[in-house]
Amino acid sequence: MAIDKKFLNQLVNVTSRAAVASSYLVGKKDKIAADKAAVDSMRSNLNNLDIKGQIVIGEGELDEAPMLYIGEKLGTNKGPEFDIAVDPLEGTNFAANNLPGALSVIAITEKNNLFKAPETYMEKISTKVNEKNVIDLDYTVKQNISNLSDYLNKNPENLTACIMDRPRHKEIIDELNKLKVNLKLITDGDVSGALLVTEEKYNVDIFLGTGGGPEGVLAAAALDAFNCNFQGRFLFKTEEDKARAKKMGIKDLTKKYELNEIVTGDSIFCATGITSGDLVAGIEIQDNDFVSETLVTHKSSGIKKVIKLKQKVK
Ligand code: FBP
Repeated sequence: MAIDKKFLNQLVNVTSRAAVASSYLVGKKDKIAADKAAVDSMRSNLNNLDIKGQIVIGEGELDEAPMLYIGEKLGTNKGPEFDIAVDPLEGTNFAANNLPGALSVIAITEKNNLFKAPETYMEKISTKVNEKNVIDLDYTVKQNISNLSDYLNKNPENLTACIMDRPRHKEIIDELNKLKVNLKLITDGDVSGALLVTEEKYNVDIFLGTGGGPEGVLAAAALDAFNCNFQGRFLFKTEEDKARAKKMGIKDLTKKYELNEIVTGDSIFCATGITSGDLVAGIEIQDNDFVSETLVTHKSSGIKKVIKLKQKVK
């Protein structure tokens, strides 16, 4: 079944207001406070919606931030049942230090259509190319670049890969450099990073590397609407992670997930800019008005656009 389009505007309002709440803390060097402002706003606005919602992908355990926790029920308990994935403040460093790219992000599906996983890291890969066996998480970097280069009929020198600048990615980055692939290194924010493959204007051909699992699931929802390719593999390192995963019903802890095993059916994705970045502009506040930009996708209606909202702060 399709998710009613009315929820699109309602969710744009939810992420916009979370972004506004967090925007007052931009540049204040306090990641936790900026996150908490977004979380509190998101929770109270989701609770006003006529939905039976449940958080299946939340944030907070990795960095002990304030969180909308997995299993939390949201909404008035009237209306459709939804699985909800949230990252009220994606890019806490960006917000704390007034750097580009902080977002407030949410994705919903109908109940039981979003993958349920504990918060952990995830190995990911995304491309616009959605042909089978061209790009695969199990191929070497060299193989993926060679396949992409053949498929797009572009030399590796004309391909751009986006990856988080982390020591754990040294081998991948060294290999990409050896292959002469252009690099877009990002310091944080891999929801946005994964989505840079969606449109030519971002000039990114492939996104790869390990980042947060929740960010992977959120990005997958939008990538699905853009008909892009995404694969992810959760990385359960500690015994505690493994035990939690098993408890949540994950049997094979090393499984590679295709996009449609992570998100199925219809979905709505909203990402509002807190600070301006590649995808959307940040919050502007003048007197008692705010202007927000939100990247929105709604799979069933084919909507993929940036919505600009101008409203009273209170
Ligand atoms: P936060 O907003 O929770 O700080 O996450 C930012 C982020 O860069 C994510 O986009 C990414 O998935 C994750 O952190 C990567 O984790 P790490 O900084 O540990 O490499």
